[in-house]
Amino acid sequence: MAGLIPQSFIDELLARTDIVDVISARLNLKKAGANYQALCPFHGEKTPSFTVSPAKQFYHCFGCGAHGTALRFLMEYERLEFPDAVEILARQAGVEIPREARAREAPGSGPLYQILEEASRAYKGWLRRHPQRQRAVDYLHGRGVSGALAAEYGIGFAPPGWDNLLREVGAQAADNLLRAGLVQAREHGGHYDRFRDRIMFPIRDRRGRVIAFGGRVLDTGEPKYLNSPETPVFHKGRELYGLYECLQADRKPADILVVEGYMDVIALAQNGFRNCVATLGTATTTQHVERLFQATADVVFCFDGDRAGRQAAWRALENTLPAMRDRRRARFLFLPDGEDPDSLVRSSRERFAAMLEQEALPLSEFLFRELMADNDSRSMDGRARAVESAAPLLARVPPGVFRDLLVDELARVARVDRVHVEAAVGGDDLPSALRPAAATQPGRHGQRRTTIRVAVALLLERPTLAESALAPARLRRIDLPGADLLAELVEILQQHPNLGTSGVLERFRDTPHESTLWKLAAWEHLTPPDGVEAEFLGAMRKLDTLLGRQRLQYLQQRLEAGTLTTDEQQEWLALLRSRAD
Ligand code: UTP
Ligand code: MN
Repeated sequence: MAGLIPQSFIDELLARTDIVDVISARLNLKKAGANYQALCPFHGEKTPSFTVSPAKQFYHCFGCGAHGTALRFLMEYERLEFPDAVEILARQAGVEIPREARAREAPGSGPLYQILEEASRAYKGWLRRHPQRQRAVDYLHGRGVSGALAAEYGIGFAPPGWDNLLREVGAQAADNLLRAGLVQAREHGGHYDRFRDRIMFPIRDRRGRVIAFGGRVLDTGEPKYLNSPETPVFHKGRELYGLYECLQADRKPADILVVEGYMDVIALAQNGFRNCVATLGTATTTQHVERLFQATADVVFCFDGDRAGRQAAWRALENTLPAMRDRRRARFLFLPDGEDPDSLVRSSRERFAAMLEQEALPLSEFLFRELMADNDSRSMDGRARAVESAAPLLARVPPGVFRDLLVDELARVARVDRVHVEAAVGGDDLPSALRPAAATQPGRHGQRRTTIRVAVALLLERPTLAESALAPARLRRIDLPGADLLAELVEILQQHPNLGTSGVLERFRDTPHESTLWKLAAWEHLTPPDGVEAEFLGAMRKLDTLLGRQRLQYLQQRLEAGTLTTDEQQEWLALLRSRAD
């Protein structure tokens, strides 16, 4: 098979790669003896069971069994195809991939790259030599674009006329021109050029191959920009204009600025901001963001300050959340009305630099500002709604420091206990007022991981834990589904410490709880054996906090209704004091 990467090359690549480098760039690795440990990125856990061995150059998770080499890790973690993972490692190791093995190409895409390259050469040539080139040259100069920069970005000119490209490349190639999106078919046979009388911006993939074009009219015609359609080699939702050029200028940019237009990228580059890319007239996708974070740790989105800009920014935020693993940073810069990066940077480079520096909002700030703008933070109701709408968003963030910080912040602005927020975000059961719709989907292990379920499953696995459980009477008061079952289970096990799992299941035969218990007994909750006790104690603490909170709310309601008894008043004060500690 053509394009197969030889095993000898993979061997060499792995020999030159240190798995610790690869993984520590993405996870928070802690030294543990001869190995390193981290919270497993492939399943939710609270104590690290993900282990990296520098000696053996592999990783293994004792919780979920995930294991492999640096390559496998990249594929799983970055959700990459094998050849892309090879490419990343090769770039880091500074080795050249054997040429014949390079591309993961869609079938039949070879001739498309060729023909796109040929078209790009033709457009560039026409900008230099075509009889009508002067209008295009004047236009570019008028927008402050130098010849050198135009050359760097491969800017060209499609002259007026219906068949310049057809004739240049040759009508025998019409089928491939069509598949490459460069010509369109006529109704009664034949073809005509898609791009006519336009400034041409080639879009390159990360290897620098031309895969599509954007074309801008020279006057006020419509549409202002015409883009290549989706083709076997061009997917808008994945590609970013300018990324190749950005990485040519600097292989490891400290940050990358995402703007909306071709000309914004060009004007910024012209003014020394080489680290800019544009989406191609589409919303920012998670694929875009992942690709950006492969190149930098800091992404700055630049949007218009108007309503449409804010909406686009919010979409970008939603699609960025799943990519917010630790140490990645995303910021949002909103531009003054009527300005775009092109106009701003050309009127004052310094002012634009200062805005970037001072006004870009961290993702969390933008997130909470929008949330609190939609929900009145002075009313309890508004704050509950804020938690409700934020929880499914926070749930999209991979577990880690950043997510924890967001949970803290949400608890702070909504003035609710962290436990509630954590529960909502983690998909835990909550009083219905705080239950977010999106968090009620089952996790990938079939059952939603709720505190109650985890506690029951752990008890079934290790019945002796019942001695460290909350008192059954207290458990019964918890306002969560399954609390009664948990209470009953604890009660039975406290009275019969030697019952064992099968004994417990036997006791519940023919009761309404039977099937639930069997399911939980068979549930792969993925807590490693040495973490069972800690996890159980953690669950009890959570329930305890929840109980306190629940009780406080109840007492507060009675207080407001003026029906608090003296005893209850004492209890209320005690609870408040304990929360203040
Ligand atoms: P804008 O309309 O905001 O234009 O389009 P701009 O970037 O400021 O363009 P100039 O400065 O007038 O040249 C932003 C982006 O939206 C897409 C293009 O990708 C463009 O760069 N777009 C816009 C289209 O795809 N088609 C259009 O007709 C207009
Ligand atoms: Mn513009």
